[in-house]
Amino acid sequence: MTPRTRSLVIGTLSAIAAGGLLYACRSTGPKPGLVTGDVASKVYVAPGQHDEYYAFLSGGFNGQVGVYGLPSGRLLKFLPVFSQNPENGWGYTEETKPMLMTSHGFVPWDDSHHPELSQSNGTPDGRWLFINGNNTPRIARIDLTTFETDEIIEIPNAGGGHASPFTTPDGKYVVSATRFSVPTGPNRDVPISTYAQNFKGNLSFVAANEPGKMRIAFQILMPGYNYDLGHAGKGPSDGWFFFTSYNSEQAYEKLEQNASKADKDYIAAVNYRNAEACVTSGKAKQTPARYAHNHVDPTSRVARHTMETSVTTLDPRDCPNTVFYLPTPKSPHGVDVDPTGQYIVAGGKLATVIPVHSFDKLQAAITAKKFDKEIDGIPVLNYESIVAGEVQNPGLGPLHTEFDGKGNAYTSMFISSEVVKWKLGTWEVLDRIPVYYSVGHIMIPGGDSKAPFGKYLVAMNKITKDRYLPTGPELAQSAQLIDISGDKMKMLLDFPTIGEPHYAQALPATLIKDKQVKFHQLAKSTHPHVVKAELETGISRQGKTVHVKMAAIRSHFAPDNIEGVQVGDTVLFHVTNIEQDWDILHGFAILGAENAELILQPGETRTFKWVPKTAQVYPFYCTDFCSALHQEMSGYVRVSPAGSNVPLVANISKKAATQAARAGVTVAQPAAAGAGEAR
Ligand code: CUA
Repeated sequence: MTPRTRSLVIGTLSAIAAGGLLYACRSTGPKPGLVTGDVASKVYVAPGQHDEYYAFLSGGFNGQVGVYGLPSGRLLKFLPVFSQNPENGWGYTEETKPMLMTSHGFVPWDDSHHPELSQSNGTPDGRWLFINGNNTPRIARIDLTTFETDEIIEIPNAGGGHASPFTTPDGKYVVSATRFSVPTGPNRDVPISTYAQNFKGNLSFVAANEPGKMRIAFQILMPGYNYDLGHAGKGPSDGWFFFTSYNSEQAYEKLEQNASKADKDYIAAVNYRNAEACVTSGKAKQTPARYAHNHVDPTSRVARHTMETSVTTLDPRDCPNTVFYLPTPKSPHGVDVDPTGQYIVAGGKLATVIPVHSFDKLQAAITAKKFDKEIDGIPVLNYESIVAGEVQNPGLGPLHTEFDGKGNAYTSMFISSEVVKWKLGTWEVLDRIPVYYSVGHIMIPGGDSKAPFGKYLVAMNKITKDRYLPTGPELAQSAQLIDISGDKMKMLLDFPTIGEPHYAQALPATLIKDKQVKFHQLAKSTHPHVVKAELETGISRQGKTVHVKMAAIRSHFAPDNIEGVQVGDTVLFHVTNIEQDWDILHGFAILGAENAELILQPGETRTFKWVPKTAQVYPFYCTDFCSALHQEMSGYVRVSPAGSNVPLVANISKKAATQAARAGVTVAQPAAAGAGEAR
């Protein structure tokens, strides 16, 4: 530790004593971490070359996921999950709106925190990415063949879904633990001062191994603490799940001080196979709960929203030997299990050591009943009986730990702004590297799995200060890439991120890049308004609703002239991109629409709802630069006053009109002068 960081440490220690956290930002003096020598070549990916890893960084308060290549740090895609995205119409189109439905109605935003890759046999398998909504508790599943969100389940009896959506090594469950305890069964109108009596925590286990069928297998009702993070056991600890909790003080006001009084809080260790057995043997209760389950039908690509009405809840008192509390200093944040599954590492954000629990000792202590007390039927194990070791003087504000698969652990230090490398088993600090600044999560590709790819570490920093060109009061969010392949960590790269990434996951690109869907097969589409050829386009009126079935193909829309729409009508443009070629997208936008554009992937149908307010002519056009004649890809809709006798016409082909008439769809022939020649 340099004299300068030591003085910062002392300064911040007194800040902790005062009950607050300060950011330790080295914003003056010479810039440490300047790259030299061959560092640039280690992150350089030449034009035309691909990155070695896909990295998925949560967008934090933008509710989305950023996909980056490593080692370059290049942004590859911005993937909407819980938030509407005008860039591609996610959450604006009729097909995708149902994805954002919740028990609170349409919630077009969330705070996305922890991406989690699906696992098989304890390692990332490249099928899906899960991510949590921290605000209105939800878990989303993203298909890594399309890079699209195709399922979201809401978590009932929860007030914030922070400890989520960490997976079991077999991929059977992802979990969600409530950040804020709330009145449960159901949440209701009670005085906040009845916190201790009425507020409960809960740990949800969500079955997640079948697309479209995510389901809350069971919830475990817990004392009313704040549950923060979690990780599954593996190897010897397979079948267990570990969740940090703080606020065992059960404070409900001024948590900054009142939730930081106790010397130790708890990690909840859950034997979830025991819990499963208790559920199977009828020891759980079915309780009323309202929560949404939304998913995209794979052949129509239309999302469906359903509301569930009950959930299975388990009280630890009814299922002994299932939940235990591990005392852990002090307001622990992260809980991470090493690749062997033997060590459970806590990040006591206000602690001066990193405590590591031993799974073997934990088992022995349970057998020997080394319990200090019991809380609501949950035995509290004796700290000295379960602790494997403590990393001494690691730095200040330990939060999260990841592993390199070579016997080393890496812990982020929020207050002293550094990443500390230490050795599992001996607990000695081996190396430390400053990061800029105030690091939250760190990520090693596969670093929470049983076989980490221990080459790089990404630090996700909360404060940027002087690392980029300034951009007004709000600066770029920041990540840093660190080489961990040698004995000493080496800073390789700063790269700015969009949103505030909380956590990230990464895996070798080879696991997913060859499985990409190149286009959606038109022939297999079951969208109710798909057109598979221009001949199938048409226009029809049902009362005040006008349906336009439209095709988009380089470089025109069919139809591209529409008349007979009236003020007071709702127009639904069902636009199908009938291209069957990779990366040939079209867009659709119309003058004055109170909505976002459509972006149409090849073979996809999307519906644009439009309610024109004045009688006039409205141009529409393609927004995605698709061809040399992209600028010609446009059309007009004529809107007449309500009650007008302008016939409903569209310049669809005569053949299409005939077919539509045979199918019983009302289609006016394009007869009026100026309505356009039939093609
Ligand atoms: Cu189609 Cu631009």
